[in-house]
This record gives sequence, structure tokens and C-alpha cells, in this order.
Amino acid sequence: MAERLILIGFMCSGKSTVGRRVADALDWDFVDFDEVIERRTGKRIVDVFRDHGEGFFRGLEAETTREIADRRHVVLAPGGGWVTQPDLVDLLRADSHIVWLRVGPETVLERHGDQAEVERPLLAVDDPLAAVLSMLSEREPLYQVADAVVETDGREIEEIVELVLRSLGHGEPPDPAVGC
Ligand code: S3P
Repeated sequence: MAERLILIGFMCSGKSTVGRRVADALDWDFVDFDEVIERRTGKRIVDVFRDHGEGFFRGLEAETTREIADRRHVVLAPGGGWVTQPDLVDLLRADSHIVWLRVGPETVLERHGDQAEVERPLLAVDDPLAAVLSMLSEREPLYQVADAVVETDGREIEEIVELVLRSLGHGEPPDPAVGC
């Protein structure tokens, strides 16, 4: 079994919620990149974007990645745009199992509407659907770096957690429908 699990996927794909539960099930640590960045800067992500710009935020994602590169028995949930710096993925590739939590554009907007407490600067635009479609078309090829894909549309969290654990080889034999 791999010694590190990385959950990648677009905003609102469930990386943090699923990651926390999978980590509990494995008795591994859980690291949410956005939380690390918020602690470090003392600012919410939306304020980091507003005060310093996206480039600065991407630099913090890179720093966070380098800092945890030696950690094992850990579930990682980087933000949805982490894959746009492929060298960061390369840094963690060895010993990692990468799962893409896939989400469609309608589900992104639905879940985003339900999560008013999480402010996502890249969705705070006049036409969020256009923004989501444009980012998805740029990022979906990048998410394919994953070892497995789990569709999240229409699925309960518990089922997604189970599928992620299985794809990692934990519990039941891997479901052929889960691999990509
Ligand atoms: C971003 C996703 C967010 C957060 C930031 C940028 C992105 O994280 O890192 O707002 O570029 O997709 P979530 O994917 O956890 O929402």
C-alpha cells in the first residue's frame, strides 16, 4: 500500500471532507493545504488573493508542498489549482497514491452555494459557470495524473470515502470501476 494519499480535484469536489475521514479510517495525519496557508499568513484564502494576488498564493502552495515532501502516512488535500504547477505533483509522486475526486460543473455550483462559509475567490465572479467551465477545461487534463478517479456527482460522502479507501487497497479488493 502507498504511504501517502493525495486527493486532487476541482473546487467543491470534497477533498477536505473526504480526506479527513479517510485519514481517520487509516489512522494517518491529514493536511489541508489551504488551512496551512491560512495559519501561516494569518489570513483567509480570499484575503491572501485580494491582498497579494494569485501568484503569491501559488508560491505558498509550492512552499507547503516542499515542506511536507518527506512526510509519510499522511492524506493530503491541496487546493483545486495545485495541479497547475506540475513540478509540485512530481515532487510528491513517489510513494504516493493520487486519487482524482471528479466533479461536474453543476455540482460545483450547487455545493459552492451550500458552503457560504468557504469563500472561493476564483468563483466570486460575475459568471461563475463560465469560470468553472474555463478552469475545468484547463485542469481536467492535469487531474489525469491521478492513479484512480472517483466520480463524486450524486454520491454520498460515505460512499466516496469507501471508494477512495478501496482504490488505495484498503479493505475490500479494488473495484475495477474505480481505476482509470
Ligand atoms: C483554488 C481552490 C481552493 C483554494 C483557492 C484556489 C483553485 O481550494 O486553494 O481558492 O485554484 O482551484 P479548494 O479546491 O479546496 O476549494
